[in-house]
Amino acid sequence: MKVSEAIRSRRSVRKFQDRRIPRDVLEELVDYARLAPSGMNKQPLEFVIVDKPDLERKIFDYTSWAGAVDWNPGPEERPRAYVFILVNEGVKPVTADYDVGLAAGNICLGAVDTGLGSCILGALEYESIETLLGIPGDHRLDLAVGLGYPDQEVVLEDGTPEIDYWLDKEGVFHVPKRPSENIIHFNGWDD
Ligand SMILES: Cc1cc2nc3c(=O)[nH]c(=O)nc-3n(C[C@H](O)[C@H](O)[C@H](O)COP(=O)(O)O)c2cc1C
Repeated sequence: MKVSEAIRSRRSVRKFQDRRIPRDVLEELVDYARLAPSGMNKQPLEFVIVDKPDLERKIFDYTSWAGAVDWNPGPEERPRAYVFILVNEGVKPVTADYDVGLAAGNICLGAVDTGLGSCILGALEYESIETLLGIPGDHRLDLAVGLGYPDQEVVLEDGTPEIDYWLDKEGVFHVPKRPSENIIHFNGWDD
């Protein structure tokens, strides 16, 4: 798959098939994250993959899905794995948040290439998850990516002026994006 195709077809998916993800696929996605850019090449990130069914079910209760709509995936529709992105504060990272975003982006694009859907998750009950996963004190949980085989259609809309995503009666997610002409400025703001 071309990178441009992966970028254009990646959408946040929040409803998944009841189908497990092979370990080697999950490891490959984290390998894409490992290879992401890192400020001063400090590489402060570590990753916890959760794919054990009972643990994955507990994790769901500490996440929040599609805050803008009144809907949640049912028990069989939830992600079948999570990747938690941790920052090792011990290495005194200089660009940790950027590094995390780039790593998460690589995971999500890699997921498209393997037929998986993904959703970045920042609304987390951080302390509960850190305790559940036994994260050491010098490591900070930053972001998670929920993963599974998609069972939801997500379409892009023109985001002028409305930018809230919505779910229609058929269960299709609509995601407005601001158009290029509204956000690109050539050679200065006013040109
Ligand atoms: C840093 C970050 C945190 C996010 N946190 C959540 C979250 O906690 N729950 C959720 O359902 N979606 C979350 N999202 C997904 C966004 O809602 C989604 O990217 C946005 O609606 C645009 O849709 P798209 O990813 O399909 O382009 C997060 C996205 C980012 C970048």
